[in-house]
This record gives sequence, C-alpha cells and structure tokens, in this order.
Amino acid sequence: MIIAIDGPAAAGKGTLARRIAETYGFHHLDTGLTYRAAAKALLDAGLPLDDEAIAEAMARKVDLGGLDRTILSRHEIGEAASKIAVMPAVRRALVEAQRRFAGKTPGAVLDGRDIGTVVCPDAPVKLYVTASVAVRARRRYEEIVEAGGSADYDAIFEDVKRRDERDMGRTDSPLKPAEDAYLLDTSEMSIEAAFQKAKSIVDTALSRNA
Ligand code: DC
Repeated sequence: MIIAIDGPAAAGKGTLARRIAETYGFHHLDTGLTYRAAAKALLDAGLPLDDEAIAEAMARKVDLGGLDRTILSRHEIGEAASKIAVMPAVRRALVEAQRRFAGKTPGAVLDGRDIGTVVCPDAPVKLYVTASVAVRARRRYEEIVEAGGSADYDAIFEDVKRRDERDMGRTDSPLKPAEDAYLLDTSEMSIEAAFQKAKSIVDTALSRNA
C-alpha cells in the first residue's frame, strides 16, 4: 500500500503523513528532507548550488535512513533545497531512492510535491493537501512564536508565496495535484478534521484492496 501526499509548503501535509503512517503502521518518508539533505551536503562542503553534476553526485549519496528533521529544517537549507530541486539530474537521483522506499512492506506514506504525479503515479491513495497562502503563513508564524521564537508575519507570507512560485513554476515535476488526487483544502479545517477525512479515504482504499 502506497499513500502519496502532496501539497505546498506549510500546508500541514507532514503532520498528516506522520499521523497516517503511525495509525496504519506504515513507513514514512518526508521527501523534502531528501532534497534538503543533498543541499546541506553541498553547503557544508562549500560547493556551488548551481552545478547540476556536482549536485547530482551529492544527491546520489543521500542516506534515507539518516535524515535528521531538526537539523534539516533550517531556513537556509530549505532555500538551497528549492534551488537544486529544479535540476532534473538531482530529481532523477532522489526519485530513484524514493521509489525504492515506497516498495517497503506493509506500506509506505510519502509526502512531497510530486509523489502522486511522478514518484508513485500508481499509488492507490493520493491526497493533495493545501491551504491559502495567508493561512499557511499564519500557521508557520504561530509555530515559531509558540516555540518561543520571534517571527515577522509579512516576511513569512512573502516567503511562502515565493516558495510556491518556485515549486509550481519549475519545468521538471512542478507542484500540482495528480488528476486522481483527493483535494483536501485545510484553510478552514483543523488538523484533526483533516486527519479524520484522510483516514476515511485510506480506509476505503484498504477495504477495496482487501
Ligand atoms: O517540503 P520542504 O520545504 O522540506 O521541501 C524543500 C524543497 O524541496 C522545496 O522547495 C521543494 C522541494 N521538493 C521537491 O521538489 N519535491 C519533493 N517531492 C519534495 C520537496
């Protein structure tokens, strides 16, 4: 069983994917972390972010078992990741590793930007989780403030918008819902309500496969 979850930055798809994986005892991969790991390796080595061959070599070395969310969630790593994510050779390398992960038993939940469209087009469950830019910026702002940090809402809003433009505007595997994806707009929905909705979709797919 493969569950593909896509959507823009800060839509809540990561939280949803983790909860679904926990509920069903499936493996979970946040594919954004694979782009981030390759980007971090380049930054750490002082290598350029605009050389496709060098970036591909780094992408091929990414170990899916060693992805540390706390370290990789840094803002500058996300920026660097979105730059190398436009490179077809980088995407090919990471997609190969992601497909191997998707084959794990008894099932796998993958979340990202192109899971339902490119990585696992045959996944029996595809969710596209989204929310308005304002709602996503507000959630990210509150997350930072609740964690004791200081944040600038307007800067976060602009950042979310810019990230969307880069993810949706690239030529290779742009962010978009798969034709057969179930659209989950969480702008006016709690995470709990989104989870219940997602769970009922997965349950239906599981009973169909049984
Ligand atoms: O979801 P995130 O912020 O961790 O993703 C980091 C960058 O990686 C983001 O700009 C988009 C890119 N990405 C991608 O192109 N394809 C994926 N499947 C996941 C992330």
